[in-house]
Amino acid sequence: MDSIRIIGGKRLSGNIKVSGAKNAALPILCATLLSDGESLLRNVPKLRDIETTSALLRFLGRNVDVAAPEVKVHAGAQVRPEAPYELVKQMRASVMVLGPLVARFGKAKVSLPGGCQIGSRPVDQHLMGLEKLGATITLERGYVIATAPRLRGCEIVFDMPTVTGTENLMMAAALAKGRTTLVNSAKEPEVEELGRVLNKMGARVTGAGTDVIEIEGRDELAPFDHAIIADRIEAGTYMVAAAATGGDVLLENAPLEDLGSTVAALKKMGVEISREGNAVRIRRPGALQPIDLSTEPHPGFPTDMQAQMMVLSCIAEGTSTILENIFENRFMHVPELVRMGADIHTEGNHATVKGPAKLQGANVMATDLRASASLVIAGLVAEGETNVLRVYHLDRGYEHMEEKLSAVGANAVRVQDQHG
Ligand code: EPZ
Repeated sequence: MDSIRIIGGKRLSGNIKVSGAKNAALPILCATLLSDGESLLRNVPKLRDIETTSALLRFLGRNVDVAAPEVKVHAGAQVRPEAPYELVKQMRASVMVLGPLVARFGKAKVSLPGGCQIGSRPVDQHLMGLEKLGATITLERGYVIATAPRLRGCEIVFDMPTVTGTENLMMAAALAKGRTTLVNSAKEPEVEELGRVLNKMGARVTGAGTDVIEIEGRDELAPFDHAIIADRIEAGTYMVAAAATGGDVLLENAPLEDLGSTVAALKKMGVEISREGNAVRIRRPGALQPIDLSTEPHPGFPTDMQAQMMVLSCIAEGTSTILENIFENRFMHVPELVRMGADIHTEGNHATVKGPAKLQGANVMATDLRASASLVIAGLVAEGETNVLRVYHLDRGYEHMEEKLSAVGANAVRVQDQHG
């Protein structure tokens, strides 16, 4: 398994181009199941999760041509509406084929995704919504079996905002008979983006991006051609890297309007962030101030930025507190940061970070996607050499991170694992 070797201490300076949003591309790839013909996705990032989703679509009977940043999907000769455990266990977002399959083909057999490093990640809201739309749901040997002659629109109220739950049910509702209203929906920009694509396909979606989404279902939907929005979490990650190294970075294609709470927190810590045309300049001229963060559904502070901001608080002048409210176990980066010299104490979902710590380079283990990114950022500021191991976690959600960082002055290289 590859690792990334970093020699810390370099200020980042130069331009970084933000890629397309992983968490927009994934549901939109699943939406191609809703129609025949050929759909074209543009500005798709070159990521493991995109490859995994493409492999799943091929297994389901689609022809998928991945030529980053473009992906072409067209209907094959037949459909096999079954998503096997081997593929779903690699990426829990695969559960988003469930809605499109049962809506389009009247049946679906999808492996339950199971938990992952950051929590149990149940899908009860996805299943509750499909049942309300008229699907019969049974669980058999770790698989969800969903059948429905034709889904019928209705009102669905989520117990909590769920991003992929909202997206799964938007796609199912787009082929249901009549109108569906999703209440207490997730408001992430990626949900709004899926709404735009479903409208291009012929559905009538209003309110995507708010907590009440209306979907007028259609008997048939058309293929689409769509350029994916920029990745706000990738952009936020590089903002933190620039701030941590005291650098001066221009982020091209950064979706500033989708990063309100992250930008507010960074500015509070003393980071200068300003728009320059359609780019964003990040500088950190002076000392970092501590911060109190609490992760919330969008537009609150994103859980996907929590690990990265924790590194910044490690080197701030004072004590910061971080509350992780979305997932029950999203502090896996903490023991690794402590090994690098950070002063962090956790109690349940509450972390107290004392700074400034002098971080030293070390061999550290990546776990979940964003924890891996935080270890890379820690390596950029640590004294000496850091090896971030198991970077396949990183490759799931960051396109050539070591290349993008080296291009702005970091001493970061990928070390291929000799044993393959
Ligand atoms: C999406 O995951 C993202 N993934 C995650 O990004 C992100 O961290 C998360 O939303 C929160 O913003 C994609 O979009 C592909 P949720 P998702 O359903 O949809 C509970 C990354 O780093 N819940 O919004 O799986 C759940 O346990 C990834 O790119 C239920 O209880 O998250 C959690 O506590 C990691 N039952 C909360 O809701 C359900 O049926 C929010 O989860 C569904 C969710």
